[in-house]
Amino acid sequence: CRVQQWDSEEPVPRAELLAGVAGKRGLLCLLSDRIDGEVLEAAGPSLKVISTMSVGFDHLALEEIKKRGIRVGYTPDVLTDATAELSVALLLAACRRLPEAVEQVKNGGWTTWKPLWMCGYGLSDSTVGIIGLGRIGQAVARRLKPFGVKKFLYTGSRPKPESAAEFEAEFVPLTRLAEESDFVVVTCALTPATQGMCNKDFFCRMKKTSVFVNTSRGAVVNQEDLYDALAHGQIAAAGLDVTTPEPLPADHALLSLKNCVILPHVGSATYATRSTMAVLAADNLLAGLRGEPMPHELLL
Ligand code: NDP
Ligand code: DGY
Repeated sequence: CRVQQWDSEEPVPRAELLAGVAGKRGLLCLLSDRIDGEVLEAAGPSLKVISTMSVGFDHLALEEIKKRGIRVGYTPDVLTDATAELSVALLLAACRRLPEAVEQVKNGGWTTWKPLWMCGYGLSDSTVGIIGLGRIGQAVARRLKPFGVKKFLYTGSRPKPESAAEFEAEFVPLTRLAEESDFVVVTCALTPATQGMCNKDFFCRMKKTSVFVNTSRGAVVNQEDLYDALAHGQIAAAGLDVTTPEPLPADHALLSLKNCVILPHVGSATYATRSTMAVLAADNLLAGLRGEPMPHELLL
């Protein structure tokens, strides 16, 4: 293959992408590259394969892509463990107030041991609600179970008894999940149905003592509603690995809240996982170019 590469960790500028893709047969992209009608138009009819180094594909205009008969490769499974691990770390950081506690040690706020100082909420005997019991949702439940979780609830487009059996998880409507969960973990894909799903109504139904964690996509959450819920004590805390926009501006209101832990979309960020994702994305692309089955092709 002859390869034209944007050789930088920074996202390729849009103009550079539009010019570079012209006449190419394959495109390897990242989740930060919006592959829409404009890009497909710029590429022209030569483009046969798109390979994204991500499991999420909400940055790809799938209808347009399908219409043009372009095949798509993505990277499921290989990042499930790393993302589930990060989801658990974020949940614990939020519910046990770790960033706040670290800050207290550094700024002299730690004066003595006090009975109620820096208290949070634990997983023992809790109810955990998982929005989207897919690969990552199940891997999160598997990791949380040994912490003594009493009950798992989940929601999705349909019940998944085979996936739920391991955790004796109960399929419930979103409203019941919000009302009964002590911890809500969002691990669904971003789709028109899930966009803005966690909104004012959702947060109002949650318990004042419950903790919200999102490692899926920022747009699943209405951030203004989340801000209000956190600022007014409607929920106890939140942990977000994904936001709208990304990066979140340093002066964003959510960053002013002590009970909101925000990470810069690092769910899959282990050296081994990123390396495996990169190799899989390249293998998908090469297989697609050869007209062979891809290791992981998205069925359109
Ligand atoms: P899966 O396809 O295995 O799981 C997605 C889940 O979303 C499915 O269980 C699906 O349930 C669920 N879902 C779809 N529609 C709805 C709905 N309306 N309500 C609730 N759930 C719904 O994908 P993965 O687990 O591999 O990845 C999930 C997402 O996590 C990715 O799409 C990506 O956006 C994000 N991600 C983020 C990372 C990070 O760095 N923070 C890293 C990796 C992934 P059903 O089958 O019932 O439709
Ligand atoms: C994905 O793959 O969709 C994540 O957001 C980054 O690994």
